[in-house]
Parts: sequence; structure tokens; C-alpha cells
Amino acid sequence: MRIGVPRETGAGERRVALAPESAARLVKSGVEVVVEQGAGASANFPDELYARAGATLVDRATAWSAGVVVKVQRPSAEEARHLSSGALLISLMPTATSADLLEQLAAAGVSVLGLERVPRITRAQSMDILSSQATIAGYKAVLIGAAEMGKILPMLTTAAGNIPPARAFVLGAGVAGLMAIATARRLGAVVSGFDIRAAAREQVLSLGATFVGPEPTADAEAAGGYARAQTEEEQKKTMDAMAAHLKDQDLVVTTAQIPGRPAPRLITTAMVETMRSGSVIVDLAAETGGNCELTRAGETVVHHGVAVIGAVNLPSSVPHHASLMFSKNVLTLLQHLIKDGAITLNLEDEITGPMCLAHGGSVRA
Ligand code: NAI
Repeated sequence: MRIGVPRETGAGERRVALAPESAARLVKSGVEVVVEQGAGASANFPDELYARAGATLVDRATAWSAGVVVKVQRPSAEEARHLSSGALLISLMPTATSADLLEQLAAAGVSVLGLERVPRITRAQSMDILSSQATIAGYKAVLIGAAEMGKILPMLTTAAGNIPPARAFVLGAGVAGLMAIATARRLGAVVSGFDIRAAAREQVLSLGATFVGPEPTADAEAAGGYARAQTEEEQKKTMDAMAAHLKDQDLVVTTAQIPGRPAPRLITTAMVETMRSGSVIVDLAAETGGNCELTRAGETVVHHGVAVIGAVNLPSSVPHHASLMFSKNVLTLLQHLIKDGAITLNLEDEITGPMCLAHGGSVRA
């Protein structure tokens, strides 16, 4: 069996789907790994490391012609044409915007596993790309916010005067939010957090942050541990609490998302106008519409002196460690799929089934 690792070509994508140490594990288990020259370069994995891992460095066409192709971002329509009939593609595949591509892949006889669809069950935790990449995003969001601020985060007592600690607030305490809380605490800020799920409240407190906003209710959680959308009345309560809290914050990181829906709009322009000039909002929900009314994905909007950063693809801005974690997730998935030296797609399997988006000539999204 041959696994191909093409170089990512998407704008701004610096990660690679398979790092050398995961390649070495596959090679040791008898799998042939072919890596497009330069595929790991932007994540600081030079070709020599792949060669030392036992992988073969190849040209683009050879990497794409493998029976199994692993990628970070979905391929372009042009790249997808290089996949052979019977091949398996493993990559991110946002189904809401991939209908044409999935039709094309299915018609070409390509099977597709979408990495966003790893079920959130204990057995699949080590394959969970959403979690590993959200961890990186939560960390980097705080660094970006801290760099944008004209203040430092820790308290200082010096001969040149005393500086109070910055106040950081994290809205949405899932995987990214908890990492943002931990990072802001390490940098010395006084941190608070809010989430609508009851389990998140305990996690916020266990990280040494305070919990603000309405008490979470047990029924806020939907299938898979995700949040459900709030009713209008619930959302109003949340927003009233945010309005009271935001005006004292220097750094706000927002991460609130509802799977398959636009992100809840929790911070209005009027709330931003109550914040101090120089404060910063980093919106990690920018790609699904943003938690702040002023958010523009990929842009920084300055309103009343408050910078609103519409963060997109932050994991790619930490390409080395994001790739190492991504790669470990992919390796565990491959080990789950490989039986007796070959890939078996068992669509009845509780992990493979939900991930499979195209197989046997049909789209399964
Ligand atoms: P996510 O990215 O979909 O959402 C981020 C956070 O926003 C969530 O904590 C959610 O509760 C919160 N949120 C949604 N609407 C909100 C609102 N109106 N106000 C405030 N917060 C709001 O979720 P993420 O971080 O990917 O995962 C959420 C949960 O999924 C985890 O905490 C856990 O329970 C579960 N999970 C399970 C895993 C497993 O068992 N393998 C792995 C990862 C997560």
C-alpha cells in the first residue's frame, strides 16, 4: 500500500498532513510513503527528515497517484483530477461548500474521508483534528491579541511604577476557549470565561478563571457534547451579562460556535462602543460569521479604538506543532483503517461510517 503526501497549495496554508515521525511509523509497519518534494518545508520539516524516516521524495504527479492521499485542506478541482479511481482521499472537507467537489470525486471512483467528521467519542479522541487544531488556535488567539494591545498582560511592580494586570475574557469555553484561558493566565492576565454548557463552567473554574454570565443549564448540551442554539430569551440573558462585563476587559477572545449553524452574534457594536480604547477582540468564530457584529473574516476592524480581529486559519500560523498534532491524528486514523496491510473502509464502523463522504461512486454527505 502506498500513501501519498502532496504539498499544500491553498492560500496561506503552511501545514503538512503527515510529519516525518508519523511517516516513520507507517514505513516501519510496511507501508510505502511518498512525499512531494518540499511538502513539509513551510512547517519546518525539510525533505531530509522524510528521507531519514524512510519515505520517498517524489514529484507532484507521483504523490497524487498514490492509492491513499492525505492532505490538510481539500484539493482544488484540478488537483482532484489527479486521483485515480479506487483511491482514498483523507482531508478536511467542509461539506457545506464542497458539493461539486464531492460529486467530482465520487464520479471518478474516489472514496473520501472528511476529517471534520471524526465522531467525538472517547475511542476517536486521538484522531480528533478539530480538537488538536482548536487547541493551537486558542493559544495563538491570545498571542495575537496580546501583540495588538498597547498594554502588557501581567501585573508589574517596578521602580518605574506599578502596572495592574490586564483583564481577559474568553467567550465560549470549548477546546479553543479553554486553551485561550490557560494561555492568558500564564501570561499574567486576570481571566474570566463564559459558556452555556454546564461542564464548561467547571472547566473554566478549574483553570483558575472566574465564570461570568448566566448559570448554565443542563439542557444546553446537544448531541456529541456540543452546545445547542439558544432561544431568543436565553440569548438576551447572555448578551445582557456580556454587556455588563465587556466594558472592563482589555482582551476578549470569542469562540462560541454551534455545529452546522452560523456563530451566535453575542457582541453588538453598541457593546464594543462601551469598551476602552486600545482593547482588542479576537474572534475565532469569524469563519462562521463571527460572535461580534463588527467581525470581518481575515480582517482587523478598528471601531471606537477597539480592534476586532477576524481570525482565520490560526493553526496554519503555528505550522510545525499544528502539523505534528494533525499528523498524529491522521496516523491514528490510518492505523484504525489498516487491516493486514491494506485499507478497509467498513461503513458500519462508528468512526469510519460518519467520516465517509464519498464511496462506491456515490456522495454520502
Ligand atoms: P465548538 O467549537 O462547536 O464551540 C465552542 C464553544 O462555544 C463550546 O464550548 C460551546 O458550548 C460554546 N457556545 C456555543 N454557543 C454559545 C453561546 N451562545 N454562548 C457561549 N458559549 C457558546 O465546540 P468544541 O470546542 O469543538 O467542543 C465542544 C465540546 O465537545 C467539548 O467541550 C466536549 O464536550 C465535546 N468534545 C468531545 C470530544 C471527545 O469526546 N472526543 C473531543 C472534543 C470535544
